[in-house]
Amino acid sequence: MTAIRRGIGALAPEERPNAGKVINAAVERMEAALAGAIDKLGNAQLEAQLSETIDVTLPGAPARIGSIHPIRRVMRDIGSYFTRLGFAVLQGPEIETDANNFDALNIPADHPAREGLDSFYLRPDLVLRTHTSPMQVRAMRESGPPIAIIVPGKAYRRDAVDARHLYQFHQIEGLMIGTDIHFGHLKGVLTGMMRELFGPQQEVRFRPSFFPFTEPSAEIDTTCPGCAGTGHRAETTCRTCGGSGWIEIGGSGMVHPNVLRTVGYDPERVAGWAFGVGPERLAMVRYEMNDIRDFVENTPSFLEQTS
Ligand code: PHE
Repeated sequence: MTAIRRGIGALAPEERPNAGKVINAAVERMEAALAGAIDKLGNAQLEAQLSETIDVTLPGAPARIGSIHPIRRVMRDIGSYFTRLGFAVLQGPEIETDANNFDALNIPADHPAREGLDSFYLRPDLVLRTHTSPMQVRAMRESGPPIAIIVPGKAYRRDAVDARHLYQFHQIEGLMIGTDIHFGHLKGVLTGMMRELFGPQQEVRFRPSFFPFTEPSAEIDTTCPGCAGTGHRAETTCRTCGGSGWIEIGGSGMVHPNVLRTVGYDPERVAGWAFGVGPERLAMVRYEMNDIRDFVENTPSFLEQTS
């Protein structure tokens, strides 16, 4: 059209107005035709959409729902139990002073108990805590007795990774200090905890042990939930407990007088107990797992099982 319009200039002056009219009329017609065609196309599309049949009874695309990690679940259940008993829940630093992690817990620099624990040092005086027990020290320094706390959190040790060990794992520390606190309270509280997690058949037993920061010290065992304490399942040895009917869930004891003295308490006037249990262990028993590495591999098919 532009080329044709330019051509008007080459016509005789008296022919020009008529040529202009003819060209304009042609342009108008073409534009109208174009608009009509576009309209038709659009309508056809709309009509196609309107006559489309949608089966509203078909299932939709499922939304992926997250789940709570099995370790968190165990920690949450234990936390809720102790909160109901009136325990406060504290959290402490994962980077701990060498002094709190060891010395204040009656583990001096030359103590052999350090050997298995001496782990990830950031500086000679700072270590990734090897247990949650240094929070006993922090809590007691922070306030006087009575104390009733639990401390869920991570701990680190230079363990080689295998089906039962990770270099990062969790612990739940418990501490109760007062004037008439004894082992009986500890057994009662732990039995309640195990019954909350695994049911009313659970029992707890103590086995003599050693920790530098408790005296006396005891390992905590509970009825194996895999075989209800019988040691066997369907005629074969129970693989959860190896046939003993018991599983070990942590360590405990009466807080050592040296520890009480270190935080400024008088061991003649106050006493109490502490324990440390492993959520990984409890979760593995609860969910019948045999490899601790499953907790950290982030496989959705594994994690979705405890949604
Ligand atoms: N801290 C000990 C450990 O990691 C467990 C423990 C806690 C023992 C409290 C006694 C008292 O093995």
